[in-house]
Amino acid sequence: MMSQMRHFSLKMNDGHTIPMLGLGTSAPSQVLKSETEMAIKRAIDIGYRHIDSAHLYQNEEEIGRAIQMKIADGTVKRDDIFYTTKVWGTFFRPELVQTNLERSLKKLQMSYVDLYLLHHPEALQAGEDFFPKDTHGNIIFDTVDLCTTWEAMEKCKNEGLTRSIGVSNFNCKQLERILNKPGLKYKPVCNQVECHPYLNQSKLLEFCRSHDILLVAYATLGSDARKKWVIKNKPRLLQDPVLNAIAEKHRRTPAQVALRYQLQRGVVALAKSFSEQRMKENFQVFEFELTPEDMESLDGLNRNMCYLQDLFSGHTDDASYGND
Ligand SMILES: NC(=O)c1ccc[n+]([C@@H]2O[C@H](COP(=O)([O-])OP(=O)(O)OC[C@H]3O[C@@H](n4cnc5c(N)ncnc54)[C@H](OP(=O)(O)O)[C@@H]3O)[C@@H](O)[C@H]2O)c1
Repeated sequence: MMSQMRHFSLKMNDGHTIPMLGLGTSAPSQVLKSETEMAIKRAIDIGYRHIDSAHLYQNEEEIGRAIQMKIADGTVKRDDIFYTTKVWGTFFRPELVQTNLERSLKKLQMSYVDLYLLHHPEALQAGEDFFPKDTHGNIIFDTVDLCTTWEAMEKCKNEGLTRSIGVSNFNCKQLERILNKPGLKYKPVCNQVECHPYLNQSKLLEFCRSHDILLVAYATLGSDARKKWVIKNKPRLLQDPVLNAIAEKHRRTPAQVALRYQLQRGVVALAKSFSEQRMKENFQVFEFELTPEDMESLDGLNRNMCYLQDLFSGHTDDASYGND
């Protein structure tokens, strides 16, 4: 199984590799933490080696326990797992970036993570409240220069606390700010953004490719409307007739086609499921191929539609980032 996973990995611009399919772990608040732990153990048994989380998801203790148990029972070694965590905007002050990572590492019982991401491009007032607000209910931003936050990320890599560093929810301009930073030591290896046939991010993908930055897609299946920051009453991606027709033609499921679409564009795909059956289903994306015509039809579904709300600017329909 491991050689298979290595085969379906991409090389990042810092020389490390990333498995092309990752397990998402952001679940609606009603999901019990014990369910998360069970799901991670099951996922590792199925063959998942790439796990995506964040300080914000508040599930790193459970994930850490599950991974440690799978190491203890001999299923995997630490090096077989690719684990991502993210720093939230309330920790963007340079002196807090490493503290935040060390807190995650402690919860995870790990000495390093594989990938550490800036969760979004906005610095927020430092403190334990994820969404600091003034008396009018407006988010309180911080004036931290993202470039100094990035230098603190570079330091985390130099200290060996993370193998790779990257960003999430950045647009081209925001990426350029980092890329043009005087004295840049390490480019972001990736930009993790909402991406699916209804929001295919083709321009951002092109930009990232031209800078040897990988695009990592989240909400690849249209996310989960039970989650707080997912906009309700949007057309359901997995019910799309074109997606369903292509799935039927290949005797696959719409979810498998939505994931396969990303892999064939060279995009790393995250998919969250805690159900054993759907985790298995999502893992079977390396066994079939979409034709160029299928890919063209799927490209034609783009309508720049976000499932995730943009919490920081108030726009919900045209932004290329989300925050759950
Ligand atoms: N960087 C960021 O700002 C950011 C934002 C959002 C998400 N993310 C990351 O990306 C991951 C994925 O995004 P997401 O969780 O929002 O959405 P997603 O993976 O697009 O969709 C998850 C939903 O799809 C269901 N599902 C999974 N497999 C399915 C299948 N084969 N058929 C039908 N339904 C299926 C899941 O339910 P079951 O669990 O019941 O199967 C869940 O309700 C997150 O978990 C998180 O790790 C990052």
